[in-house]
Amino acid sequence: MREAGVNLVSLGIFAWSRLEPEAARYEFDWLDRIMDMLHAGGVRVDLATATASPPPWLSHKHPEMLPVLADGVRLSHGARQHYCPSSPVYRFAAQHLVQQLAKRYAKHPALAMWHVGNEFGCHVPACYCDVSALAFRRWLEQRYGELEDLNRAWGTDFWSQRYSDWDEILPPRRTPTWPNPSQQLDFMRFSSDALLECYELERGILMERSPGVPITTNFMRFFKPLDYWKWAEREDVVSDDVYQDPSDPEAGMRAAMAGDLMRSLGRGRPWILMEQTSNRVNWRDVNVAKAPGQMRLWSYQALARGADGVMFFQWRQSRAGAEKFHSAMVPHGRPEQSPTWHEVVKLGRELGRMDPVCGTRVSADVAILHDWESWWALELPSKPSTRIHHVDQLESYYRHVFEANLVADFARPPDDLSSYSLVLAPSVYLVSDEAAANLVAFVEAGGTLVMSFFSGIVDPFEHIRLGGYPEPFRSLLGLEVVDWFPLSDGEHVKLKFADGAHAEADLWSELIAPSGAEVLAQFSGSTLDGHPAVTSHKFGQGRAIYIATRPEPAAMGRILRAAANQAGVKPVIEAPAGVSAVRRSGPRSSLLFLLNHRDVPVDVPIADPGVNLVDGSEVHRGLIRLGPRGVAVVQEGW
Ligand code: GAL
Repeated sequence: MREAGVNLVSLGIFAWSRLEPEAARYEFDWLDRIMDMLHAGGVRVDLATATASPPPWLSHKHPEMLPVLADGVRLSHGARQHYCPSSPVYRFAAQHLVQQLAKRYAKHPALAMWHVGNEFGCHVPACYCDVSALAFRRWLEQRYGELEDLNRAWGTDFWSQRYSDWDEILPPRRTPTWPNPSQQLDFMRFSSDALLECYELERGILMERSPGVPITTNFMRFFKPLDYWKWAEREDVVSDDVYQDPSDPEAGMRAAMAGDLMRSLGRGRPWILMEQTSNRVNWRDVNVAKAPGQMRLWSYQALARGADGVMFFQWRQSRAGAEKFHSAMVPHGRPEQSPTWHEVVKLGRELGRMDPVCGTRVSADVAILHDWESWWALELPSKPSTRIHHVDQLESYYRHVFEANLVADFARPPDDLSSYSLVLAPSVYLVSDEAAANLVAFVEAGGTLVMSFFSGIVDPFEHIRLGGYPEPFRSLLGLEVVDWFPLSDGEHVKLKFADGAHAEADLWSELIAPSGAEVLAQFSGSTLDGHPAVTSHKFGQGRAIYIATRPEPAAMGRILRAAANQAGVKPVIEAPAGVSAVRRSGPRSSLLFLLNHRDVPVDVPIADPGVNLVDGSEVHRGLIRLGPRGVAVVQEGW
């Protein structure tokens, strides 16, 4: 570990059956020994509460704590995460274990942070058992108070679903056809909250027994089942697990997007890359290896996007179990033979020089709206098209932000947006009144907004907002959407821009009746020939741009470039294609991260001389050369 520069380890994540081999009999000697050893070696510990994988004795004694799927299948122990989040048995046992751990290790000098559970919801995001049904009803009673209000909110007159008693309400179990969409949406909210309660129960104990020790639980990038906005408010440090597929040509962009999300979830606070692989995973059909330098590059990318720490799953490759073919920092074979080990060691050495990075912040002038509730609602079935996916829509915007080296935060639609000049709204299907008013006010006050099709369609109950689509944004956008024309798989339409340029689009099209908006591009050649496809509307002091289809990336880039110009948003630097540039700054330092995502060397212009923290070399005004997948962290002004 010293050789690899390790100074923090996550420990005991799946150790419950070792820590408590039978009910209320605890064995801590082995953990004491490891904690002491790590302390003696100068390594601190992110100590897990070990509650993500209950021991077999618990589910054997209490099979009712096992989770049930929507179709009634009860899952067994023998893997991990086999618990119903609402189960009092599970919660009681987990709390007891955490109390013991907190009692024993609160004052241990190696303890740096608590790691609650692990990747909440990863395998079992929701449980449909009778215990969950009861908890769901309790949650609904709190939300609605009166049964009549629930009936109205769920539109239960449709298909004779009206409830006459709370006890009749079930989770959306397997039904002959689509369950009620409002019920499904509430069940997603409930399921995220049920797991959050588990986290909170553990966190409460830890806060009481070891005040001041930071608490985290590891997120999973854009993980649909959990509303991480709510979760992150309850973490001292946001941490994330990033497992991009090295064979995906856009993996770098996707990992950057996850990093920007983590920074945004923590409202700008530094976060930790809790898990990444040194090389291959074991859980894809084909587990492609990371190319030389890729792990190092993506580690720096996490720093560039606001992380203050880089960790791995896992230290040593295991000999047995379901993850024995997953890579690790220390491989099965002899480390000195392994290029992976050498890259790990090199990274560790370099990260030791990155102290000036810690605590510095990334500041963004662009916000991309991202809301879990809207995501859930958008992807419920029975829509004009089920092909609209929230993350695809985010990516269609983020791709350009990434390539153009703009800096974007993610934000919730009702958030204070006043610090941003440009707000991007990719298909924000569900909006509250508050969120809608917020977006309108943002533009009125001088902001530039770009919004995609199928935004502002429903309210938080999943009821259509009547009065002409998109009802809350018609005057803002200066148009009305008269009808939708979803495109079939593989179908493309042509776009013609006002300057005569042509482009293609797919997925969706719609008939727009402008009422003040000017047309930036129109559909050409399809049913909608000559009708607006992209519009722009001056509203108050600002401007709202609307995109009624999914333009191909180059055309999207063109639209977003124009919007960025309009908003006065500038790239961090003008870098060659394939190079990311992000700046982190603090009271004492300004650090320019330059990352070459390509496998050929590239020269990047430098305006401010400084020192490259990676190797201590001086950086002069002019050009800096980055090798294939090379990086530089230029401490500017030195
Ligand atoms: C994560 C998990 C780790 C390990 C890893 C494998 O989801 O937290 O325990 O399973 O995946 O890639």
